[in-house]
Amino acid sequence: MLFYFTGTGNSLYVAKKIEEAPISIPQIMRQDSLEFSDESIGIVAPIYGHEVPPMVKDFMKSAVFHTDYFYMILTYGNRHGGAAELAKQLCDECGIKVDYIHMVLMVDNWLPSFDMSEQKKLDKKVDEQLAVLLHDLKIHKREISPVNDQDRAAHQQFLENQKKVPEEVWQHFIQIKDNCIGCGICEKVCPSSSIHVIDGKAVYHFNHCQTCLACAHACPQKAIGLSIPEKNPQERYRNEHISLQEIIQSNSQVNR
Ligand SMILES: Cc1cc2nc3c(=O)[nH]c(=O)nc-3n(C[C@H](O)[C@H](O)[C@H](O)COP(=O)(O)O)c2cc1C
Repeated sequence: MLFYFTGTGNSLYVAKKIEEAPISIPQIMRQDSLEFSDESIGIVAPIYGHEVPPMVKDFMKSAVFHTDYFYMILTYGNRHGGAAELAKQLCDECGIKVDYIHMVLMVDNWLPSFDMSEQKKLDKKVDEQLAVLLHDLKIHKREISPVNDQDRAAHQQFLENQKKVPEEVWQHFIQIKDNCIGCGICEKVCPSSSIHVIDGKAVYHFNHCQTCLACAHACPQKAIGLSIPEKNPQERYRNEHISLQEIIQSNSQVNR
């Protein structure tokens, strides 16, 4: 049994390599009972500021897992900042006995720091990383990816920088531009019902926004930007092996 969270498809791509029918966390969170039993149970998720998205944390805190082998695979794009150690701490807090935590370096979809046209050109050797990971999972390897002091310092620095960001930056994090045509794709790819089409235009409420950027990356008009400068507002990203329909199926809260 494998659960996943995705904004732009990287984590879904990895999840599909591990299991044929991985389960979307935004969808399973609609269920009343979150108790699961299987021979092995895993979670694939991106890291945001070196940690898993808030919804993945909520899922781990509320779910009960019965398994002999629990693992986490974290996708990231540039700097993991000791994500494996932070994920291990989260598992401890949730009472989850975790056996394996590993990272996969992929395209970095964080628009303020990276130009997607540049990211798409880089060969991050994803399939080579996946081959190692799949072998590890097959033999139920027990290993938490190592973290060093430099990684820990990077995370501390990140936390310091975060404190300086004014709250209103997040409240208005997603900005809908005038060229929005109200197609509703943003609403369908949003895992947290933070965006709705009202009177033919997308309207954003921070609410439980995961800052996954699914809306910005999926907008066919490039009409969704951020409250902080972007490297290249004209270039967006979706994992090349994942369709828009799959992102919608993973995340849509429409008709909830
Ligand atoms: C809000 C946010 C924060 C991120 N923070 C980090 C980070 O701290 N380190 C990193 O290497 N990548 C970071 N990334 C990049 C993603 O972790 C990476 O692109 C991931 O593979 C995206 O997965 P997805 O396509 O399944 O959404 C961040 C992306 C977002 C949207």
